[in-house]
Amino acid sequence: MTITFRLNGEEVSLKDVSPTATLLDWLREDRGLTGTKEGCNEGDCGACTVMVTDAKGAKPLNACILFLPQLHGKSIRTVEGAAGPDGQLHPVQEAMITHHGSQCGFCTPGFIMSMVTAHKNGASDHDDQLAGNLCRCTGYAPIIRAAEAASAAPVPDWIRSEDAANLPATDGDAASLRPGSADALAAAYAARPEATLIAGATDVGLWVTKQLRDLGDVIFLDGCDDLKDITEQPDGSLRIGAMVDMNRLRSTLAARHPSYGEMLRRFASQQVRAAATIGGNIANGSPIGDNPPALIALGATLELRKGDSRRSLPLEEFFIDYGKQDRQPGEFVEAITLPARPAEQGDALRVYKLSKRFDQDISAVLGAFNLTVENSQITAARIAFGGMAGVPKRASHVEAALIGQPLSSATLATARGEFARDFTPMSDMRASADYRLEAAANMLARYFDDLGQTQTPTHVLEVK
Ligand SMILES: Cc1cc2nc3c(=O)[nH]c(=O)nc-3n(C[C@H](O)[C@H](O)[C@H](O)COP(=O)(O)OP(=O)(O)OC[C@H]3O[C@@H](n4cnc5c(N)ncnc54)[C@H](O)[C@@H]3O)c2cc1C
Ligand code: FES
Ligand code: FES
Repeated sequence: MTITFRLNGEEVSLKDVSPTATLLDWLREDRGLTGTKEGCNEGDCGACTVMVTDAKGAKPLNACILFLPQLHGKSIRTVEGAAGPDGQLHPVQEAMITHHGSQCGFCTPGFIMSMVTAHKNGASDHDDQLAGNLCRCTGYAPIIRAAEAASAAPVPDWIRSEDAANLPATDGDAASLRPGSADALAAAYAARPEATLIAGATDVGLWVTKQLRDLGDVIFLDGCDDLKDITEQPDGSLRIGAMVDMNRLRSTLAARHPSYGEMLRRFASQQVRAAATIGGNIANGSPIGDNPPALIALGATLELRKGDSRRSLPLEEFFIDYGKQDRQPGEFVEAITLPARPAEQGDALRVYKLSKRFDQDISAVLGAFNLTVENSQITAARIAFGGMAGVPKRASHVEAALIGQPLSSATLATARGEFARDFTPMSDMRASADYRLEAAANMLARYFDDLGQTQTPTHVLEVK
């Protein structure tokens, strides 16, 4: 496969690249660009952050879990390209020096590239922007001060002019590895149903870097621009393409469902959210994926496609058992649809993510709650959890105990007792079974408080 991209302003064409060679290895070993560091090699530390620009804009991405074919047609800037052509420092580099934001030099290149990207995008939520960059010696305060100071400076010309590389059309061979539309993907996958699909590679990347797996035949989905749309349908439902990434999803859903948006803020980190797709988060079948419970609580429908035939099913039915989903060989996730909700019902969705760290951590338990209350009575209930079973799962006994009841402490007490009928969670390094059961029931209590608009703070961010 031949791929072409721009690296620090220079066009690069690579022939016969291994589809699972990572950008990090190529930069360091083939190009000698060792400013980009390898820390964890699993997307956690941000030492390998680079800025990648395509037609939709600039993103910070972790080079360690980015395969070279994902870069076709894009522009990459490494820390060596942060400074100008005549050696002028970028404003964030200047500010890091002035504010003493760097000590070890190992994490610093990754910080610089996250900050260069945030600076280009005009982002001012510096804590969020840097949640995927770990520093264990300087501490974050000087780094955040540097980011704040740099934000007043204009974007330098050499960064402002960075745009998607203008490249030749994909050749026939590459088209089957990296199809350019959902139709082309459907044809390629029907012809090679044993192939591994690669979307953002934030799961699949680790199969290669950590499990050293040989993936065999692969198909990259990132050329399918028509899977990256979010469209409001005439009936008010929202259709989300499988290749929509978490940052894009967050910016759309935060307005409709602020609690969903807040959960996505805590999904991994800026770099992982910029790559991770909704399709990947569903198709991986993980019992601790953060989106499925929230989507199930919203009544989402999954759209699957194989060749030219399509089918749809309620999302909860997709997850059959641990490691087993209702998906045929050659069938892929095309989209997910959220039903319209009558405006008069308002937004009752709340999503609570329980993890050991606020940022960049996998959930121990994630609960999503969506009740309809009419004339002081609960008339409909959709409640789903991650981390409580081998699959994302609805709490059907809890739901049944709530329907037809008032939103009262007596109802809550009865419903609490139903959790043990719905779930027999496991104990692992994240949480014990007892803790999970107790935490899930406490989330329902918190939800009742939230709906009742209690004065008690129920969110970390409300506690000053
Ligand atoms: C540091 C780090 C932190 C993370 N934190 C979180 C977190 O907080 N919450 C969370 O839920 N997850 C987290 N993850 C996991 C991961 O980011 C998500 O599961 C992500 O949504 C996967 O999407 P992707 O596009 O990267 O999928 P990929 O890695 O490309 O693919 C994942 C799986 O889905 C399949 N697939 C992808 N797209 C399709 C499709 N359209 N149709 C059929 N199959 C498809 C692939 O073949 C593969 O089996 C984290 C990962 C990392 C590395
Ligand atoms: S090396 Fe740690 S995120 Fe890439
Ligand atoms: S300066 Fe590198 S770990 Fe803190």
